[in-house]
Parts: sequence; C-alpha cells; structure tokens
Amino acid sequence: MSQTPQTAGDGTADTVTLIDNRNGKQVTLPILHGATGPDVIDIRKLYAATGCFTYDPGFTSTGSCESAITYIDGDEGVLLHRGYPIEQLAEKSDFLEVCYLLLNGELPNPEQKAKFEQTITRHTMVHEQLANFFRGFRRDAHPMAIMCGVVGALSAFYHDSTDINDPTQRIIASHRLIAKVPTIAAMAYKYSVGQPFVYPRNDLGFAENFLHMTFAVPCEQYKVNPVIAKAMDKIFILHADHEQNASTSTVRLAGSSGANPFACIAAGIASLWGPAHGGANEAVLKMLEEIKSVDRIPEFIKRAKDKNDNFRLMGFGHRVYKNYDPRAKVMQQTCKEVLAELGIKDDPLLDIAVELERIALSDEYFIEKKLYPNVDFYSGIILKAIGFPTSMFTVLFALARTVGWISQWKEMIEDPTQKIGRPRQLYTGHVTRDFVPLNERG
Ligand code: CMC
Repeated sequence: MSQTPQTAGDGTADTVTLIDNRNGKQVTLPILHGATGPDVIDIRKLYAATGCFTYDPGFTSTGSCESAITYIDGDEGVLLHRGYPIEQLAEKSDFLEVCYLLLNGELPNPEQKAKFEQTITRHTMVHEQLANFFRGFRRDAHPMAIMCGVVGALSAFYHDSTDINDPTQRIIASHRLIAKVPTIAAMAYKYSVGQPFVYPRNDLGFAENFLHMTFAVPCEQYKVNPVIAKAMDKIFILHADHEQNASTSTVRLAGSSGANPFACIAAGIASLWGPAHGGANEAVLKMLEEIKSVDRIPEFIKRAKDKNDNFRLMGFGHRVYKNYDPRAKVMQQTCKEVLAELGIKDDPLLDIAVELERIALSDEYFIEKKLYPNVDFYSGIILKAIGFPTSMFTVLFALARTVGWISQWKEMIEDPTQKIGRPRQLYTGHVTRDFVPLNERG
C-alpha cells in the first residue's frame, strides 16, 4: 500500500488538479495506490486549500480508511480475505481458522491453530450475572434487540479488557467477543422459546457447540449432525467480513472516539439489523412465504420494477457487487447439501427461490441494473431447514460478522494516523434568525 503519490512514466507525480471555476483557484491532490482495486484521490488537504468539503451521501465514491483485511472486486465478483479467495476458504478452511486469519493477517500454523481454538473455547462461558439481563426482556422480544442490549452490556462485566490502548486487552476483548457472542445468541433463542439456557461444551467445535447451545435440552442427549455442523461453519465463514459495509463502518466510527470494543460491536449489531443490510436474510424468507407459489412470481417481479411501489426483491442487488455475489454461489450449493442431508426433497420455498432467481436473471430490468442474488438469498432457506426461526437469521449473521468487526476495529486502533471520524455536511437549514417569544408566534 502506498501512502505517497507514485511518479508516472513521464516524470510527473500521480495527482489530480481541481479548478474552482468561480475564482480560478487550483488545488493539486495526490492519488494514492492500493495493492489492487481503484486508486483514491487524497482529499485530506482539500478543505484547507479551497474551503470546500466533498459531498457524498451514502459514501458511493468515498474510501473511509486504509485496510489490509478484505478486498472486493464487485465487477468481477471477487472476495478475498487477507488475499485468500472466499471460495477456497469456504471449501478448505474452517471458521476459527478464518477468524485467526482476519485478526492476525496470516493463516495459523498447527500450533497456533490449536492454541487459538483452545483460547476461544475457554472464553465461551458468560458471567452468570449476565443471564439476568435476559429476564428483563419480553419473551417475544426480537433476538436482535436482545443482542444489541446484552452484547453492549459485556462492557459492564469485562473491565479488564476495555482499555483500548493496551494491546493485550485489545486481543483479549477480541477473543471474548468471538467466543461469547455465540453463547449470547443461543441464549437469546432459548429465552424466546422458554427453554433453559444450555452451557457451552469445551469438547465440541465452534459450530457444533453453537448448535448444541441452541438446540439441546437438559432432559435428553443431543447429537450434532456433522453435515449440518459443517454447513453452519461454512455459513459463518461466508459472513465473516465484508470490507467497509454499513455495520463495519459503524463499528469503526463508534470506535474512533475511543469507545470500548464491546460497545462498538453492539453499535455494529444495531446497524446490521436493517433490512437493507443483515436483516435481508429474514426479509428474503418472509418474501418467499408471501409469494407462496411459483405462478405468483411475475406479479412480484412487476412490483419490484414499479417505481411507485417501494417493494424490492430481497436478496437481490448489492452496493459493491455488480456481478453474482461469490458468497451466494457457495450458499446455493450448501443449501442443496443441507436439504439433501435433512431429506427435504420438495421445499416449496426453494422452488420459488430457484424460479425467482431464474426469472430475475433473465429480466431486462435486473440485467440492466446488474442486480444479482446476494449472500442473503439462499441463507434463509438453509437456516429454516436447520430449525432456526426467521427472527434468528440476522443474529447468526451478527455472530459470524463479529470477527470481521473486531478485526477492523483493531486495525483502526492500531493505525497511527487514526483520528476520530467526524464528517461534515451541506447545511440547508435556516441561517441565523432571532428567537420569537411564544406569545408572538402565530
Ligand atoms: N429489487 C428491485 N430493484 C432494486 C433492488 C432490488 N432488490 N436493488 C436495487 N434496485 C434498483 C433500485 O431501485 C435502483 O433503481 P433506479 O436506479 O431506477 O433508482 C437501482 O437498482 C440501484 O439501487 P440503489 O438502491 O441505488 O443501490 P444501493 O447500492 O444503494 O443499494 C442494496 C444496495 C443492497 C441496499 C439494494 O440492492 C437493496 O435494497 N437490495 C435488497 C436488500 C438486500 O438484499 N440486502 C442485502 C445486501 S447483501 C448483505 C449485506 O451486505 O448485508
């Protein structure tokens, strides 16, 4: 990564010059080059030189930070974590190994891997007092509401890992979050169905343990299906990180003020909840249920294309991918494997999903706007088949994304150029006016 402008072949530095046509003032700005992907214009000195800000609501043309964790080429449908393609990680790695990779930058050797697994396993229990938090929620509370509250509350329990300036505390907080968020997620589920909380088991793998905490009951043996555990692990890998999306940017912005990591991750969970982001997996399933039968698909496609109808095909489209989301391809395959393992031959929702995808991919509107299925399109069908209620879908996304959030948070804190995130605005409100006493207002 180059922070200084490189010199072009003709000897001039890579720069861009802006001319203010109102007064002829010029400013020359450096162009920075990453390892791959689009170059960026470094506008840090723009305001001082011109008195102007840039304007980019939704950040469609803005790089907010320098990062070495995840790379996406949206046009080609490429997703790399620390350089490794997501397809290879999903096929050959496992979630905890990917966690290590995201956090530390390299794949672990066998010793490092064993130590990391042991560390995460040993952190899966939560403080017994934390269980009391759940009892304050209504039984029908959305589990994402519970996640926002309880994950934020971790900062009240683990004071010995909230000093962001201490590298040891930063890594302990990271391990705690990766280990405890699944326990809290399973507790949120158990609370909603009125069953007792199930403690983690240190003899089980990460995904197996999560399935155990979610579906076991104290009165009988629960045997985790290895095919389902493997699929779950793959789903976690597919959701582990995704560059500077809304929730990750939220975590970074919250963390830029020096807030503790538990509070920052709770902020990320809140941002993820929205249907345009992680809430889409829940919305996809609701949409498939609403469509009900294959013959009603054209009606919904018509609505999605209607400018006066705010209905969108959930699970379609992406800010960055203008091609098939590489995660969606793996997810589609995993979906088939899970349904086969569970002996589900005719799933009407899957039939609707397959046909919807086929019609949308051949429809001029979707082709022209480059709207392809995203990661959320098939995940809901798998999660439903495994036995999760729809309200848990986004919770599972949050569980897996925790490692991405905390890796990005850690990278930001360790960046010596890091500053508090403080965007400016284009002000369009009233200019100064005098206060009018109540009895003089019409
Ligand atoms: N169905 C119908 N039309 C769509 C859809 C869709 N799913 N997505 C985008 N469009 C249209 C949109 O109406 C707009 O048309 P026009 O140019 O005529 O106004 C055009 O495509 C561009 O859309 P946009 O909203 O400006 O694009 P964006 O980059 O701001 O939004 C998105 C990206 C993911 C929010 C959007 O595609 C969407 O709402 N998709 C459905 C929700 C969804 O599946 N979200 C999960 C994203 S992947 C997981 C994650 O990152 O959390």
